[in-house]
Amino acid sequence: MDADAVLKEIEELAETRFLPIIGPVKGEYLVDTVTRFRVCRVLEVGTLIGYSAILIAKNLPDGGKVSTIEVNPGSLATAEANIRKAGLAEKVTLYAGNAIEVIPKIPGRFDMALLDATKREYLDYLRLAEPKLKKGGVVFADNVKVFASEMTDYLEYVRNSNRYRSRFIDVGYDGVEISVKIA
Ligand SMILES: C[S@@+](CC[C@H](N)C(=O)[O-])C[C@H]1O[C@@H](n2cnc3c(N)ncnc32)[C@H](O)[C@@H]1O
Repeated sequence: MDADAVLKEIEELAETRFLPIIGPVKGEYLVDTVTRFRVCRVLEVGTLIGYSAILIAKNLPDGGKVSTIEVNPGSLATAEANIRKAGLAEKVTLYAGNAIEVIPKIPGRFDMALLDATKREYLDYLRLAEPKLKKGGVVFADNVKVFASEMTDYLEYVRNSNRYRSRFIDVGYDGVEISVKIA
């Protein structure tokens, strides 16, 4: 099955089962970020059943990799099956566990991080991922409009610490924050 067909299948499932996937609207900004920043190595926090990991992986160049973390074992197993079905197993490494404990153990450096797990923990994820994120790398944070009140510390940090050049994108029902590491 090709990756687009698997994405479509997950989108349909998400509607009936109310799964909080990033979805096609915000997904377009995600893909745009991956291609515009010529991203090769990605750290994702919050896999769910693999929608965003598949979307990113299918847009990576040869040799590109997504390392994705999921705390729920059932979701992780479904993600693994979906990623395999999409033919992208070689590009995605799945990590089981709490991102707070797992991020420090993931080897290597990243061009991009996608934050999409517990909203109150975004700043914790970022501070743990920061040493692994190269200068000029980009952090894509989902749900920053719907859950803004749960991530005021995160938004304050990326917007005002002088370590990032940060941009909010309003898609109406929600928004994403795209922050480029400048220092
Ligand atoms: C919004 S969903 C992710 C959606 C996914 N990025 C997508 O667009 O397809 C959030 C996921 O983060 C996971 N999660 C929440 N807190 C976590 C943590 N501390 N470490 C790892 N995963 C976590 C949840 O179990 C859930 O599956």
